[in-house]
Amino acid sequence: MEAVRAENLHKTYGHGDTEVKALRGVSMVAHAGEVVALLGPSGSGKSTLLTALGLLNPPERGTVTLMGERVIDEGRAQGDLAALRRARIGFVFQKSNLIPFLTAHENVRLALALNDREGPETHARAQELLDYLGVGKRGGHFPEELSGGEQQRVAIARALAPAPQLILADEPTAALDSHRGRAVMELFRQVAREQGTAVVVVTHDHRTLDVFDTIYEMEDGLLSRSAQTA
Ligand SMILES: Nc1ncnc2c1ncn2[C@@H]1O[C@H](COP(=O)(O)OP(=O)(O)OP(=O)(O)O)[C@@H](O)[C@H]1O
Ligand SMILES: [Mg+2]
Repeated sequence: MEAVRAENLHKTYGHGDTEVKALRGVSMVAHAGEVVALLGPSGSGKSTLLTALGLLNPPERGTVTLMGERVIDEGRAQGDLAALRRARIGFVFQKSNLIPFLTAHENVRLALALNDREGPETHARAQELLDYLGVGKRGGHFPEELSGGEQQRVAIARALAPAPQLILADEPTAALDSHRGRAVMELFRQVAREQGTAVVVVTHDHRTLDVFDTIYEMEDGLLSRSAQTA
């Protein structure tokens, strides 16, 4: 099952002298249960592609299909993109972006509440997600009391709150040492395998590429499947 398919995406920033063609006809697919790496030099368009797939930054041209449903058709939104994004897509960034005055448990609970999953079972579900990510004992702590690796685990727990079909992660291990970085990448693979989620990860870390099923490389707004096999 294809979780996400992008076809011929084009994205330009600015005009005239400041024009940057960030995506110049990019196509890719990520299947349910698959972990996909996105490599490429700085400025090559990786984050632009990720935010286009995440319905945060629609391309001018091209189509995005989520779970068989065309949600961007030749650059035009089909339906309520914000609602689709909330229900179907989880995001993880370089910094965890946890809300600093909420505990880990409350951060996850808030995400559940925002997805209309509020109710008596919310408390237990938040704990279940934290347990699943190996930070079940840290739920009562505030983000600043957690290590970087623990914060990212909480951020992944939060991203899983709506049971998304797609997780998009932009350099999620850049701030971690290599050991914790690998642990986080392995968690993404576990999530993909066990939850059937498609996970697309932008990374510069060539040491963890063995975790991925598919590797794409971005170069100057163009994407190709890497010859490097995972
Ligand atoms: N909001 C914006 N306005 C203008 N130009 C932008 C904007 N966002 C990105 N760009 C430009 O688009 C190109 C692609 O940027 P993007 O952030 O997608 O690259 P990247 O591959 O994620 O780079 P990095 O590895 O440094 O994060 C770059 O030339 C960048 O300067
Ligand atoms: Mg980037």
